[in-house]
Amino acid sequence: MSPFRLSVLSALLYGVARLSSVNAAAAIPQNANVDNPSVQGDTSSLPSESHVASMVKQQPICCDALSFFLKGKVFKSSASQYEASLQSYWSQQEQQVQPSCILIPQTVQDVQLSIFLLSVAAKYIPNGCPYAVRGGGHTPWAGAANQQGGVTIDLSKFSQLDISKDQKQISIGAGRRWEDVYLKLDALGLATSGGRVASVGVAGLTLGGGISFFSPRYGLVCDNVINFQVILASGKLVNANAQTNADLFKALKGGSNNFGVVTRFDMKLFTQGKFWGGFIGQDISTRQKQYDYFVTFASSKTYDPYAALIMSFAYTLETGWYIASNFEYTKPQAYPATFKNFTDLPQTFNTMRISNLTDFTVELLGRNPPGSRELFVTATFKNDAASMARFFDIANATLDPFKTTPNLTVSLSYQPFPQIVTSKGFATPGNPNSGNSLGIDATRGDLTNVLLTVQWQDPAADKNINDFATSLFKNTEAANKKAGTYDPYLYLNYASKQQDPIQGYGQASVNFLTSVSKKFDPLQVFQNFVPGGFKLMKTGLV
Ligand SMILES: Cc1cc2nc3c(=O)[nH]c(=O)nc-3n(C[C@H](O)[C@H](O)[C@H](O)COP(=O)(O)OP(=O)(O)OC[C@H]3O[C@@H](n4cnc5c(N)ncnc54)[C@H](O)[C@@H]3O)c2cc1C
Ligand SMILES: *[C@@H]1O[C@H](CO)[C@@H](O)[C@H](O)[C@H]1NC(C)=O
Ligand SMILES: *[C@@H]1O[C@H](CO)[C@@H](O)[C@H](O)[C@H]1NC(C)=O
Ligand SMILES: *[C@@H]1O[C@H](CO)[C@@H](O)[C@H](O)[C@H]1NC(C)=O
Ligand SMILES: *[C@@H]1O[C@H](CO)[C@@H](O)[C@H](O)[C@H]1NC(C)=O
Repeated sequence: MSPFRLSVLSALLYGVARLSSVNAAAAIPQNANVDNPSVQGDTSSLPSESHVASMVKQQPICCDALSFFLKGKVFKSSASQYEASLQSYWSQQEQQVQPSCILIPQTVQDVQLSIFLLSVAAKYIPNGCPYAVRGGGHTPWAGAANQQGGVTIDLSKFSQLDISKDQKQISIGAGRRWEDVYLKLDALGLATSGGRVASVGVAGLTLGGGISFFSPRYGLVCDNVINFQVILASGKLVNANAQTNADLFKALKGGSNNFGVVTRFDMKLFTQGKFWGGFIGQDISTRQKQYDYFVTFASSKTYDPYAALIMSFAYTLETGWYIASNFEYTKPQAYPATFKNFTDLPQTFNTMRISNLTDFTVELLGRNPPGSRELFVTATFKNDAASMARFFDIANATLDPFKTTPNLTVSLSYQPFPQIVTSKGFATPGNPNSGNSLGIDATRGDLTNVLLTVQWQDPAADKNINDFATSLFKNTEAANKKAGTYDPYLYLNYASKQQDPIQGYGQASVNFLTSVSKKFDPLQVFQNFVPGGFKLMKTGLV
């Protein structure tokens, strides 16, 4: 590219950046360094900061600076790799974000170098280089894991799947999706607590918590991580586990993309054969009974740890409201007693069978295909039938004006979030760096998670759908507060762009996460220059 075009482009890019932001460089703490010298880690593959700084200053367009150092791994919109990467996001909104370039690193050293470069850029050039980190690309909202006009780092080449000799551990590359993991594990009669839909990324799901069919037996997905391999903002390669960097280990279990780029997840394995699962359809008129049965089912006192349930009420214009619940029982036993109340109600369809984990997650993918416009919003309340009823009744009452939106699907999913699950992530007394960072403890009791999912096709309907969702959650939150059933926890992986799940972890957890962020990212690059996803500090200026 000629120097003239480079400078025109550069001026254009800076113009765009300025329009959409305050000067982000002003957010960098005075005297801050890219690195914290007290953190031990490998930097042997990295050039010196002064060398990189001089190069970055000469080639101040972020993508060109990256291309200079990572030749053949940075793709612009004309490249087929760019198009393929965008097409592999789940929602239409994320597919339509246009980064200036997509970086597809091949090795851990590539990630170290690129994160280091982007941190040096943050320090030395105006507005830095805003970037995004993506795993499976399943967060629905635009910009969660894709950076308009910036750099998107696509980790899809991190495809390791190594099982330890004793079959107790699997090391999973950050580009893997759950289907890849389960195909390998099913063949060996093994499993790990992981996602329930084949195409979802291991990375994002695990860093946000992770609800699994196995959670009542083994806890949330993040509670099954043995070790994270992480690249810090400094480019340092570190491990985070119960012995090494235990504070970072805890922070990553729920802290999403606020601390570093995880390149490998080492997870616990257990023996698992085929089991019973599938979907049962029922009429919406049974809903009052369903709430009562759910509350009994989801009580930790009597919870059967082999059982997992997603109770969904779905609406389309053609069908009206109907119930389609996912039942999984992780033993090869059909119609277990714990589901009897539900399964005895009249059924409209039924796919229940004994099969393998991969097969069930492919079935769930069939009900959640990619490519639509998508909205997720979530809330948490105490395990309570009246709160469940209220959520449906308000949704139904307020949906009326939007019912004719073309190709609309609305789904309300209720999932148990009982102490039998959450207790597996509690910190142990005397060891504050144990457990996860979700901020839930025994005082919270058995909780219920609700997820609103809306699918549609036409961007012209975006505003109406957002308005519907906003008023539904505002109204139900106020009513739950009044009834004493409100809980501030928000499941990060189901949150909308407008929600702030990390604040919902509570002040103690936020304080802990802030101290870990300052220790491992002294320049605060992940707060200020990685604007997508759910941030610890919502003061990000880019
Ligand atoms: C169809 C569907 C089914 C789902 N099923 C489940 C389920 O069964 N259980 C459940 O708990 N959740 C489920 N979810 C929610 C899911 O956990 C989130 O959407 C999650 O963010 C997906 O992870 P991802 O890697 O695919 O997404 P991405 O959008 O790629 O990433 C999510 C966030 O994590 C960050 N991130 C990604 N990779 C890294 C990395 N290597 N290092 C640092 N940060 C990173 C990104 O920056 C982004 O902010 C489902 C979602 C969908 C759309
Ligand atoms: C899992 O089930 C599917 C569907 O029945 C089948 O095609 C596949 O071979 C099974 N895989 C294993 C490893 O049993
Ligand atoms: C069925 O539901 C009733 C009423 O909610 C409850 O008392 C009973 O314990 C439930 N049975 C099972 C097996 O959960
Ligand atoms: C939904 O609301 C409409 C009124 O807007 C009402 O006629 C209908 O009965 C409600 N549906 C259910 C299943 O409650
Ligand atoms: C909307 O649904 C109709 C039929 O219900 C279908 O023919 C059409 O292709 C759908 N439109 C889109 C954009 O998916």
